[in-house]
This record gives sequence, structure tokens and C-alpha cells, in this order.
Amino acid sequence: MTKIAVILGSVRPNRAGASVAEWIASRANEAEGVQAEVLDLASFNLPIFAEELPPMAAPAKDPAAVAWNEALAGFDAFIIVSPEYNHSVPGSLKNAIDFITPSVLANRAIGLVGYSYSAGHRQIEHLRAILANFTTGVVGAQVNLHLATDFSGGAFAPAAFHDGEAASLVQALVAQDKALSTLR
Ligand SMILES: Cc1cc2nc3c(=O)[nH]c(=O)nc-3n(C[C@H](O)[C@H](O)[C@H](O)COP(=O)(O)O)c2cc1C
Repeated sequence: MTKIAVILGSVRPNRAGASVAEWIASRANEAEGVQAEVLDLASFNLPIFAEELPPMAAPAKDPAAVAWNEALAGFDAFIIVSPEYNHSVPGSLKNAIDFITPSVLANRAIGLVGYSYSAGHRQIEHLRAILANFTTGVVGAQVNLHLATDFSGGAFAPAAFHDGEAASLVQALVAQDKALSTLR
């Protein structure tokens, strides 16, 4: 069984990301041997990172950060759902990543889903660079959603081919998890 947390990176009210996260979680749950659920960053109320020590020196002490790391520790793999804010990831998501104790992500598979008016490519590339500071297995398969064509009147209505992308992403994640589980 691969337990996947779908991390919802936007914390705004009425965020488009909520439907995207529910969609990818439900696509993942269609795969054999997968149990996926949404982990909503907004529910953790993380402060701006202001710890005395960096997480690679000592786990963050803020109670919200402790809860965040404990929640992550219960999963084998992650799908990060990120909007594009000013050509990158939203501050909420980068801040949450800054709080992560490296061992919590060690040898975990990660998949990326982006959405924006540029189909989410920029923040996904930035996430790949950010996550390179951890020892993870970020899969090459990804899902790129466009706010102009995959949303209709504000409602999420992904083009049919994204189901195939989602299936490929989940398949890659499960394979990566199987390989990495031998190292954990
Ligand atoms: C601070 C901010 C910056 C944004 N910058 C970009 C951008 O650089 N490129 C883009 O395509 N959309 C940009 N947008 C539009 C977002 O992609 C759009 O609002 C999307 O719905 C945000 O995701 P969310 O609703 O889940 O928070 C920006 C939105 C915000 C709030």
C-alpha cells in the first residue's frame, strides 16, 4: 500500500487548488494499492519560518510546524499541488517546505501538479529545484493544468487527457515508492 498525501499549496479562501487537489486525490485512489488524501496547508496555520536553527540542524519547535512534520511522517509519498504566484510557488508552500525536517521526506516519492495561465510549468520547475535540497525521488511525470482551458466559469473542468497524465503520475509515484521503500 502506498499512502499518498496530496499537499494543497494554496491557502486562500476560494482557491482553485482545492478542486485540483480533490481531483488528483480521487484519480490516485482509483489506482490499485494506493490510499490518497488531501493535506490542506491552510489547516496547519504555519507562521512565517523564524526558528532559531535551520531544520537540517534541529527540527522546528513551533507547535504548528511540529504538527505539520508529524502529519507528513505518516505518508509514503506526496503529490504537491501548486498554483503559480509571480512565476513561482506561493510563499505559503515555500514556507511550509522550509519547515520540513529533512528525514521526514527522506527516500519518499514526490509528484508535482501545477496550474496557472501558463499551465503550471514555472512553479513545477522551481519545485524541482527546491526539492533537490532533500533526498527524495521526484518523478518526471507531472500534471500541467491551464486556468483558461481546464476551468470553466471558475469551476474545475479538466480536459479529458489530464486523466491519462494523472494516471501516469500515480503509476510513477507507486513504482518510485516501491523502490525507495527498500532504503527507508
Ligand atoms: C500573488 C499572485 C500572483 C500570481 N501570479 C501569477 C503568475 O505569475 N502567473 C499566472 O499564470 N497566474 C498568476 N496568478 C494567478 C493564479 O494562478 C490564480 O489566481 C490561481 O487561481 C491561484 O491559485 P489558487 O486559487 O489555488 O490560490 C497569481 C495569483 C496571485 C494571488
